[in-house]
Amino acid sequence: MSRKFMLISLLIIFLLLFASLKSSRENTNPIRVAPLIVNPDKLFNLDFEYVINNSCDYDGNSSLSVVVLVTSYLGNVEARSAMRRAFPSDVLKKLGVRRVFLLGLAPGDKYTKQEAIYDEERRFGDLLQGNFVEAYRNLTYKHLMGLKWAAASCQRVKYVIKMDDDIVVNVYKLLQLLHTIKLPKKLLAGYLLSGMTPIRESSNKWYIRLDEFKYPSYPTFLSGWFYVTNPNTVQSLVKESTKVPYFWVDDVYITGLLAQKSQVRHYNIGQYFTVHSEFLECCMRDVKKFWYDCDIIVGPNGGDNNLFYKFNDVVSECYYRKCSKRIRSLNETCVGEVKRTLGRGNSIISSYQLG
Ligand SMILES: *[C@@H]1O[C@H](CO)[C@@H](O)[C@H](O)[C@H]1NC(C)=O
Ligand SMILES: *[C@@H]1O[C@H](CO)[C@@H](O)[C@H](O)[C@H]1NC(C)=O
Ligand SMILES: *[C@@H]1O[C@H](CO)[C@@H](O)[C@H](O)[C@H]1NC(C)=O
Ligand SMILES: *[C@@H]1O[C@H](CO)[C@@H](O)[C@H](O)[C@H]1NC(C)=O
Repeated sequence: MSRKFMLISLLIIFLLLFASLKSSRENTNPIRVAPLIVNPDKLFNLDFEYVINNSCDYDGNSSLSVVVLVTSYLGNVEARSAMRRAFPSDVLKKLGVRRVFLLGLAPGDKYTKQEAIYDEERRFGDLLQGNFVEAYRNLTYKHLMGLKWAAASCQRVKYVIKMDDDIVVNVYKLLQLLHTIKLPKKLLAGYLLSGMTPIRESSNKWYIRLDEFKYPSYPTFLSGWFYVTNPNTVQSLVKESTKVPYFWVDDVYITGLLAQKSQVRHYNIGQYFTVHSEFLECCMRDVKKFWYDCDIIVGPNGGDNNLFYKFNDVVSECYYRKCSKRIRSLNETCVGEVKRTLGRGNSIISSYQLG
């Protein structure tokens, strides 16, 4: 009896030892992962080339700390001009920030010809254009192009920011925030959206077919309006994109599906976002009237390209002189129409003006 018990015990111990040995061997001798090889000539099923390529640093000056990727429809020339007016590249350069606009091709665009885009690049040197056609269902290509470029060209920056060309950013508060919060190594910080569901009504313009996305809800993701990441994370996301099938809702795909696969944690800074451009207006009014600080960092321009400049002009006042903290929150004092909600594929993408 006890002999049998001893035998069984020995067997169990042996098995346990064997298992732990095996697993420790697996840990110390991991299967070699091939170094990151991302074929630069391929974006999923598209043969890919830059129509306009660019370098990340300014004239070989590598003391950059932030690269900003701005997705922009080729024809949104005005939005790009307005952003450059608010933050000219020589100002950005002093702050250690490099901004590039991500474009596709639009051979059918009556108003913006490719020649004008070459011209724009000659003047400003801040475009990155891929040889895919501008379309909602190509947004993920555009977004990935930006990340691939950043992964290859901007390895030494501290932060990579992705934003849309209708988003207003309080740069002073943003830099403050990035300096004060302790961020993890693998980082995706932005407006966290969870429990969002794909639109299944086929009459809707933003209809998601079952063969495009079969699950009833999206994984938690960050709004593509604006998010902050770093080169390390971008490398992992780009690498993962070679394994996860294409899905055209770019923020769901990149900050949701790819982030999940590469085990990147989300960091929610949604409290600094507003979805109403009216709140930005109220925030500005209160700086001017009462010297109340404006702690909104990200919001939509509501179709007003002048807001990039106006907003920064006002909030920079609180950077140079002390403003006092606001007492009542904006949603109590600011009456605005609720025009848009952030989050589902449609509302994010509706900020694009195609054709
Ligand atoms: C794009 O430009 C960068 C910097 O000039 C260069 O290193 C890179 O090889 C170019 N990429 C392609 C695909 O041409
Ligand atoms: C390089 O950029 C930094 C700011 O990022 C600036 O302080 C420095 O003067 C620049 N150096 C040259 C040689 O332009
Ligand atoms: C996406 O771009 C490719 C390559 O230019 C093009 O063939 C395709 O039609 C575009 N997709 C859509 C939905 O327009
Ligand atoms: C107003 O905003 C504050 C924080 O800024 C929040 O705590 C509160 O729930 C909001 N109230 C409404 C009615 O949305």
